[in-house]
Amino acid sequence: MRLDKILSDSGLYSRKEAGDAVRRGRVTVDGIVCRDPGAKFDENSACVVADGKQIGYVKFRYIMLNKPSDTVSTTEDDPKSVMKLLPLEYQKMDMFPCGRLDIDTLGLLLITNDGQTAHALLSPKHHCEKTYRFECLPIDEDARVRLESGLELSDFVSKPCKVELSDPTHGEITVTEGKYHQVKRMFHAVGSEITYLERIRFAGLELDASLERGQWRELTEGEMKMILEIAK
Ligand code: URA
Repeated sequence: MRLDKILSDSGLYSRKEAGDAVRRGRVTVDGIVCRDPGAKFDENSACVVADGKQIGYVKFRYIMLNKPSDTVSTTEDDPKSVMKLLPLEYQKMDMFPCGRLDIDTLGLLLITNDGQTAHALLSPKHHCEKTYRFECLPIDEDARVRLESGLELSDFVSKPCKVELSDPTHGEITVTEGKYHQVKRMFHAVGSEITYLERIRFAGLELDASLERGQWRELTEGEMKMILEIAK
């Protein structure tokens, strides 16, 4: 891989900054100064040091974001895009949200540049569980059972799911699908409406309670291993 790309993939330099650092002799590879940003090395074995810091090559990044309201889960250059909540260097790493949450839905959103894993986690084949905390217009036991059993909506029949109520207007729902407006449409179908929706679990990941809305962090080693295992 090109030396400037090894540096920019580390997240510490933009591609231009990486090129400048190399040309100015601030980068060594295996102890020797290299001034050619286009020089190619094996990113997994070369010892690259820039500005005195060893650069570990990280191929893929996985970020947990606590999505705030009034943000959209797209990569497009939309001022409301969740990607704007990440530092610039992350925005340059071809990252994208793994799945969509509605503009007013809050909570756990995985952002990555690992297309294969994202695809696997979203694929119906993997039945990845997604749990949402909700508030709704009051529902009774009959509606709860209907939600759980699967409902005929205009373009699909929802799969059986789990709905736990703490009172007639609050609870948690765990679904294994991710159809457009799925939870809202399911509640509408039983004569209720969702008034608050927050994703608290996705593919075994638990929303980190220490993240404020709009805050993010990289996944821990353990979380990363878990989603890679699920996506296998
Ligand atoms: N279901 C919805 O209706 N909206 C979301 O954002 C996620 C699941």
